[in-house]
Amino acid sequence: MDKLAIDGGTPLRGEIRASGAKNAALPLLCASLLSPEPLRLANVPRLNDVHTMQSLLSQMGVALDTSKPGEVTLSAERIDWPLAPYELVKTMRASILALGPLLARCGEARVSLPGGCAIGLRPVDQHVKGLEAMGAAIDLTHGYIHARGKLTGAKVVFDMVTVTGTENLMMAATLAEGTTVLENAAREPEVADLARCLAAMGARITGAGSDRIVIEGVTRLHGASHAIMPDRIETGTYLAAVAAAGGSAAVVGADPDSLDAVLLKLCEAGAAIAVDGDVIRIERTGPLAAVNVRTAPHPGFPTDMQAQFMALAARAEGTAVITETIFENRMMHVQELQRLGADIEVEGSSAVVKGVAKLTGANVMATDLRASACLVIAGLVAEGRTTIDRIYHLDRGYERIEDKLSALGARIARVK
Ligand code: UD1
Repeated sequence: MDKLAIDGGTPLRGEIRASGAKNAALPLLCASLLSPEPLRLANVPRLNDVHTMQSLLSQMGVALDTSKPGEVTLSAERIDWPLAPYELVKTMRASILALGPLLARCGEARVSLPGGCAIGLRPVDQHVKGLEAMGAAIDLTHGYIHARGKLTGAKVVFDMVTVTGTENLMMAATLAEGTTVLENAAREPEVADLARCLAAMGARITGAGSDRIVIEGVTRLHGASHAIMPDRIETGTYLAAVAAAGGSAAVVGADPDSLDAVLLKLCEAGAAIAVDGDVIRIERTGPLAAVNVRTAPHPGFPTDMQAQFMALAARAEGTAVITETIFENRMMHVQELQRLGADIEVEGSSAVVKGVAKLTGANVMATDLRASACLVIAGLVAEGRTTIDRIYHLDRGYERIEDKLSALGARIARVK
């Protein structure tokens, strides 16, 4: 199993390019199921999760053309197997995103229940409830969600903000008969990106990006081309890395508007940020200040950046309180940060982080995707060598992380 070896203590300088967003790519790939005509996606990130989703779609009968780098064209002329099997779903919970489009297009779908997930229970009851409100008959048997029926427009009020729940129902509603209204919908930029692509395919959607989305069903969607939005979490991770390690760098091809909460917190931590079109520059030469963080649905502070900010706080001056409100078990990086010398106490869903003067390199283990990013940042500021085990988590969501950080001058290498 691959590991990452990082020799910390080098300030970061230079320029890197943002990749396409993982969390936009996954629903967009599933959107191809809605039309018999080809969907061409550009700015597709090279990630294990994207590869898994492509395999899943290919098993269903979708033809994929990946011959051009950074592009994929998906043709779901026929769907032979409207099925997402356990073997693939267990490795990637986002496979649930196939449920809505399959049901809407084929009138039937079988998707394995995602099951346990390291960062929390993450049930899919909102997806199921919404599809039932739209007229689907749903059985949960043998670990599978079996959904059948013709969908009709309905009013759905989500009990909590769910990103993939909103995306699943929005996709299903595009081909339902009549109008669907999604209330308390997720406002994440990836939902709006998906709506842009669906509109290019002929869907009639208003309000995506707000908490009320209205979808008027159409009988058929056509082919389209769509460029996937830049990854705001990847961008935020590199900016946090520069803030932590010190130095001056730029992320080009980014989407600054999707990062307001993160950029403000980086400024509070003592970094200078300058935005120019799709370029975000960051410089941190002075001391690093402790900043409190409380995760919330967009436009609040993203849960996917919580762990990276904990790494920042570990070396900051003062005490930061970091509160996780979205997932019940998303503090697994704490134990690993402690191995590097961080002073952190977890109280319920909050971590009290007392900044220390130095972190020291150690062997640590990645437990989930964003926890891995947190350990990379901590390794960049720690004295000596940090070795991170189980980096397959990183490969699910960061494209060539060691190459991008090396381009910024970090001493980081993948060890086979
Ligand atoms: C998506 C993102 C993930 C991010 C998360 C929160 C993708 C592929 N993944 O995950 O990176 O961390 O949003 O911003 O876009 N919940 C229920 N019932 C449901 C659905 C959700 O109780 O039917 C709960 C979950 O357990 C969790 C909360 O709602 O506590 C938010 O989850 P959700 O927004 O659905 O996360 P994902 O869409 O899986």
